Amino acid sequence: MTKKLCIITGANSGIGKQAAIQIAAQGYQVIIGCRNKERGEVALNEIKEISKSGNVELILLDMSLKSSILSFSNTIKEKYDKADVLIHNAAVFDIAQKSSIVTSEGYETIWMTNHISPVYLTDLLLDLLRKSDDPRILTVSSKGLLAMPMLKVDLVDPEFKTGKFAVNKAYYQSKLAQVMYTYWLARELKADGISVNAIRVPAVQVDISRHPGISPFMKWVYQQKSKKSITPSRMAETYTFLATNPGIKGVSGKYFDENNQEVKSNKYTSNWDNINDVIKLTKKYL
Ligand SMILES: NC(=O)c1ccc[n+]([C@@H]2O[C@H](COP(=O)([O-])OP(=O)(O)OC[C@H]3O[C@@H](n4cnc5c(N)ncnc54)[C@H](OP(=O)(O)O)[C@@H]3O)[C@@H](O)[C@H]2O)c1
Repeated sequence: MTKKLCIITGANSGIGKQAAIQIAAQGYQVIIGCRNKERGEVALNEIKEISKSGNVELILLDMSLKSSILSFSNTIKEKYDKADVLIHNAAVFDIAQKSSIVTSEGYETIWMTNHISPVYLTDLLLDLLRKSDDPRILTVSSKGLLAMPMLKVDLVDPEFKTGKFAVNKAYYQSKLAQVMYTYWLARELKADGISVNAIRVPAVQVDISRHPGISPFMKWVYQQKSKKSITPSRMAETYTFLATNPGIKGVSGKYFDENNQEVKSNKYTSNWDNINDVIKLTKKYL
């Protein structure tokens, strides 16, 4: 295969779908990993139509389940002998969620989907990435973390088995962990020439119809927030820049904002003792 291959998780909506359109339009082969066949197929057709590319493929992937991630990576390995870009875009954050949801495999869904699974999927696809001449891994975090400088990953109870569940805490903890994982992985893979960078996503317009459970008040809050939010397509430009721009080949271990500028994450996430603690915890799930 001569085309570069880009794998994007959760690309049936929002930023991931727009990134798939932009990257496919640049001539990449694109795999979208989506958990719902119907939503995935609708998005696949839209991505193909807008990007004017036939080189887009849907492979089913539920990022809350290790079994699904294993099957996804096996399917890719059967078809492709190299991967160039892996974008860990999929995440769950439903502000209406009141209590913890445990997957059929026994893990808390947000911790699993947003943090552990990207780590697991990376591990499974590393051999393919190593075969690229410019391999890139992108993780996705949130600018919302700026509003909670005291938040830490709960090293004892990250799945709220004993503590009271709070969806905000669960989500932002997973996004902290992703930034720390990015720094750690970039260092681990430096000798292999694999770039690993994180993206700091600010408020981006979300499709409220995707969250039917929210109250009218929260719907109003979302609508107000939306006025100050950028579009998914505008945000996806940073995904595309980091995934495809030849000028940043070799840049690794950095955190980028929506203007493609390097930004600093907070003190907690930059401290190597904290990073090593989070990685030690993460490895228990692999
Ligand atoms: N929008 C913002 O303001 C904002 C701010 C900060 C960070 N972010 C981050 O930006 C990224 C993209 O978010 P977005 O705004 O584009 O939201 P979105 O439209 O809700 O996209 C999230 C995608 O993840 C998928 N997903 C969720 N759970 C999954 C699972 N178990 N397996 C596979 N796919 C799954 C969703 O698929 P389904 O259709 O099946 O649910 C959806 O396609 C996320 O990492 C998010 O945390 C967004």
